[in-house]
Amino acid sequence: MARAEGGAGPAARWRELVELIEDARRRYYVEDAPTLSDAEYDVAYRELEALEAEHPELVSADSPTQAVGGERAEMFDPVEHLQRMLSLDNAFSTDELAAWVARVEKELGSVPPLLCELKVDGLAVDIVYERGRLRSLATRGDGRVGEDVTYNARFIPAIPRTLTATSGHPVPELVEVRGEVYFPVADFDTLNDEMLALGRSPFANARNAGAGTLRQRVDRREAELAAARERGAGTVERLEADLARAVRRLELLQLVVHGVGVWHGHEPTRQSEAYAALHGWGLPTSDRARVVDDLAGVQGYVEHYGVHRHDVEHEIDGVVVKVDDLATQGRLGSTSRSPRWAIAYKYPPEVVRTRLLDIEVNVGRTGRVTPFAVMAPVKVAGSTVSMATLHNQEEVVRKGVLIGDLVFLRKAGDVIPEVLGPVVEERTGAERAFVMPTHCPSCGSVLAPAKEGDVDIRCPNQRSCPAQLRERVFHLASRGALDIEGLGYKAAVALLDEGIVADEGDVLLLTPDDLRRSTFFTRDGGPGQERPLTANAEKLLAELEVAKNRPLWRVIVALSIRHVGPTAAQALAREIGDLDRIASSPVEVLSAVEGVGPIIAEAVVDWFAVDWHRDVVEKWRRAGVRLAEERADAGPRPLDGVTVVITGTVEGWSRDGATLAVQELGGKVSGSVSKKTDFVVVGENPGSKYDKAVALGRPVLDAAGFAALLERGPDAARAAAVPPPV
Ligand code: IVH
Repeated sequence: MARAEGGAGPAARWRELVELIEDARRRYYVEDAPTLSDAEYDVAYRELEALEAEHPELVSADSPTQAVGGERAEMFDPVEHLQRMLSLDNAFSTDELAAWVARVEKELGSVPPLLCELKVDGLAVDIVYERGRLRSLATRGDGRVGEDVTYNARFIPAIPRTLTATSGHPVPELVEVRGEVYFPVADFDTLNDEMLALGRSPFANARNAGAGTLRQRVDRREAELAAARERGAGTVERLEADLARAVRRLELLQLVVHGVGVWHGHEPTRQSEAYAALHGWGLPTSDRARVVDDLAGVQGYVEHYGVHRHDVEHEIDGVVVKVDDLATQGRLGSTSRSPRWAIAYKYPPEVVRTRLLDIEVNVGRTGRVTPFAVMAPVKVAGSTVSMATLHNQEEVVRKGVLIGDLVFLRKAGDVIPEVLGPVVEERTGAERAFVMPTHCPSCGSVLAPAKEGDVDIRCPNQRSCPAQLRERVFHLASRGALDIEGLGYKAAVALLDEGIVADEGDVLLLTPDDLRRSTFFTRDGGPGQERPLTANAEKLLAELEVAKNRPLWRVIVALSIRHVGPTAAQALAREIGDLDRIASSPVEVLSAVEGVGPIIAEAVVDWFAVDWHRDVVEKWRRAGVRLAEERADAGPRPLDGVTVVITGTVEGWSRDGATLAVQELGGKVSGSVSKKTDFVVVGENPGSKYDKAVALGRPVLDAAGFAALLERGPDAARAAAVPPPV
């Protein structure tokens, strides 16, 4: 996979990987819009693991290897799972699978009966039944705390509201059931047709369709509808249709149960027996699970579904192998991340063939010109693909593809398709080589690398190239930047094409009168009448006001400075806190900020050196955009100057939550323990940082001590510190 840009050496690479993985996770778990293919994600994750094994000093509390995965979106109420939802370790080859079986055998003296199941590519859920009645339905979230989607359960027939006891299986007092919710493959195309008919973007794959469906705020829609009915509003019909659609989609969701958490009552002895009980109570279990005796049995199962993976009603991304006996599972135990008694075998990415019709180029927001493949639409790993990025000119040459070639294409179970290479035997001689354009397809400027030796070529007309402008305006409104929902791609194009804005600076200055000049933001008002603003225009104006008060880091991201993504922007905002101070800081000052290396620092300095960039900032200032952290001059905070290291999982806190809590009070969270560390907060499975804290005599806080620090400050925390071992 392509290495991210930025410094050299293990520490820099560690940071790059962490950033990459965290961003991918956020997109995947929170936004249901993956940016990295599963394969790319796995490669990055493994590299991070290997790097940390080689350099244990790099491992810090905020490494993704230390978290269970996922992050909670803020749309739903949080709900704490009764028992933590773990992840699974992966095997990417039969050798790795064999190695896992060998480890289990070594630990136990023999290979125990192994339960093979399909790995459902859906959305993990936790369902609690109390005295046989559904108490809660939650998404996995960060493994400890998920999102409460109980309200939606009533619309999902696959999730029983009550459990029925059977002769052999009484219903426990309390049982926490784990499973995977999925959107059936058979209904996926129909759903996407419907989305397109509504003018919405289709889902990239069935997994996202499932997640998007389950995480609909049906309760809010009902409330909105009731309110509209009461007011006799004209929106009633639309809201009714919206709600009916949401409910119809929920009704299509299916569930496969594949585990249990807390179980109060007569417990089974084997996982397969637990499934029989769950099935008896009315929960949907898979009838494809099989108990086998040895590795050969596992391999037979893996091979069978390798061939038949598309005969299943849901997407699968592998096979899960579990030790069947529950007492043996207990004996093998778990790490903080995943059980030792189970492994997920991942199928290699599926490869299909299709025709490469053309190679076109795209101009990005920083001027980078990227070739991409235009292909005959083909179905691969659950969705239809017709385009794939080819990254740069060298990559096209390296892959050896010609326009007109039949090509191999793969997509690792999600959204990022990749052209692998040509099917050389199928060439007719009519194929032709791709030639990188010499001029920008959007503005006609001569293309060139930013500096000699760069692989990427760029359009130098940054200020007024229509393609770059469009991408920058679209970017500033995106979720990761100022998050202006009313300003999507079409709106960005309309604002620029209709001459309502000249650049991104003008966007924040938009007034109702400006929008009245646009045909996109107004509608027909009847003969001889002025065109009134559309609902979208009103929404945009309201959201612009909100955008002006977004945190500084979002403003920095919105500026489209090369290399400056959310992580660097957050670091700058946190450490410097004021855009004018950032603009006037030299490279040495900026690169001293933790999370900002010399490359980023230089990009920031270069950006502010350009006149029209500073004009954009001035326009935003005039518009009333907040250009400093709110707290910067709000007086001292309780943890100013206090450095905290967090290690292990602190009871009641997600890693990000704990970090933010410290930062919000003015404290700094660092990745490694030194003499300068004021407190080391130690959770479950703390690792070597605890030892280092003891060795250096730094105060160690448990969850209660951490609470004291946040609520009563450093002195109270020192009094509550855990005494060192004697
Ligand atoms: S067992 C402690 N079985 O895969 C073990 N998980 O990559 C918990 N998944 O978080 C998981 N199919 O959401 C198990 N048959 C299956 C599964 C399955 C899909 C999901 C599950 C888990 C994820 C790990």
